[in-house]
Amino acid sequence: MNEFTSSFWSYYIGVITLVSIIGCAVFLKAQSVRRIETKEGGTATTGHVWDETLTEYHHPLPRWWSWLFYLTVAFALLYLVLYPGLGSWKGVLGWTQVGQLKAEDERMEAKVGPMYEKFAAQPIPELAKNAAAMATAQRLFLNHCAQCHASDGGGSRGFPNLTDNDWLWGGTPEAIQTTITNGRMGVMPPWGPVLGEQGVKDVAHYVMSLSGMPADSIRVARGKPLFATNCVACHGPEGKGNPALGAPNLTDKTWLYGAGEPVIIETITKGRNNQMPAHKNILSPQKIHLLAAYVYSLSHNK
Ligand code: HEC
Ligand code: HEC
Repeated sequence: MNEFTSSFWSYYIGVITLVSIIGCAVFLKAQSVRRIETKEGGTATTGHVWDETLTEYHHPLPRWWSWLFYLTVAFALLYLVLYPGLGSWKGVLGWTQVGQLKAEDERMEAKVGPMYEKFAAQPIPELAKNAAAMATAQRLFLNHCAQCHASDGGGSRGFPNLTDNDWLWGGTPEAIQTTITNGRMGVMPPWGPVLGEQGVKDVAHYVMSLSGMPADSIRVARGKPLFATNCVACHGPEGKGNPALGAPNLTDKTWLYGAGEPVIIETITKGRNNQMPAHKNILSPQKIHLLAAYVYSLSHNK
């Protein structure tokens, strides 16, 4: 209610609610008058007649039904005294949705907190061998990571495979933990405007030759110096990549965007911007520690 500058609406709502509830009670009372006698001593009818002779007696509501109704009225009034519901009235119990959520969170934390603390005290390679810890970690992975990296961590186009021990940003326990905590931004600049269509094709064939893919030897020869000038800063003199920049190794058979001439040309021409989101605001350090161990286990527990 604090978005209203005056308390008018609060009273407005409060008065309407109370008048409705009390109105219900008054109406009920009015309908419960005892049996109406006619002057002749018979029972009055409502005056409705069906099928020529069928008339309806004017009986009051059954007592049990009336009392049930009075009870609901009393319940409503009691409820509105105890809980927020009447305008900005907070209720004498001081209950709030936020308070309830917080209390539930705290209960949960008290229950599972010690377990995460115990896991957090273990070094990652050791934790990765703890089957009970990995079962918990797998549930975290399915909740927070599987939408991008697939439920088995196998990844897909643009989303790295986490099971192959081939890393963009490094596969040490510390590097994995840093990746999950702070996120990563993989930036491959676009080379189309710099090298032109033929230049891109030449350097692409040189890249293909690095991993033993079939390539046009003339283009490879023309592409080699282009690679030395433009690409080694990030991908290294031998094309083996650089984990400090997230630049992939181009000499192996692992491709983030898939193998094949067309997709390599597309990457070089247009560049790529790829982001691993930071999780430090979503997950506690203990959970990140456990997830780092899980990712580590995917390529080490075989
Ligand atoms: C929104 C999609 C998305 C989510 C969610 C996500 N990731 Fe990633 N992750 C990526 C992308 C994209 C990359 C690659 C970044 C790049 O190209 O440099 C990546 C990279 C990584 C890497 C580095 C891989 C390497 O080869 O160095 C690790 C480790 C990783 N993610 C683990 C996780 C874990 C654990 C979670 C869950 C807590 C997670 N990711 C959630 C998209 C995601
Ligand atoms: C500023 C650093 C930088 C430079 C310079 C650079 N790259 Fe990259 N390159 C990257 C990064 C980072 C990625 C990974 C992008 C991602 O994470 O999505 C990448 C990805 C690639 C890929 C895709 C690999 C795969 O697994 O799918 C190819 C191919 C590639 N680069 C070729 C080149 C060529 C050829 C040049 C020179 C013309 C070049 N790069 C120059 C940083 C660079």
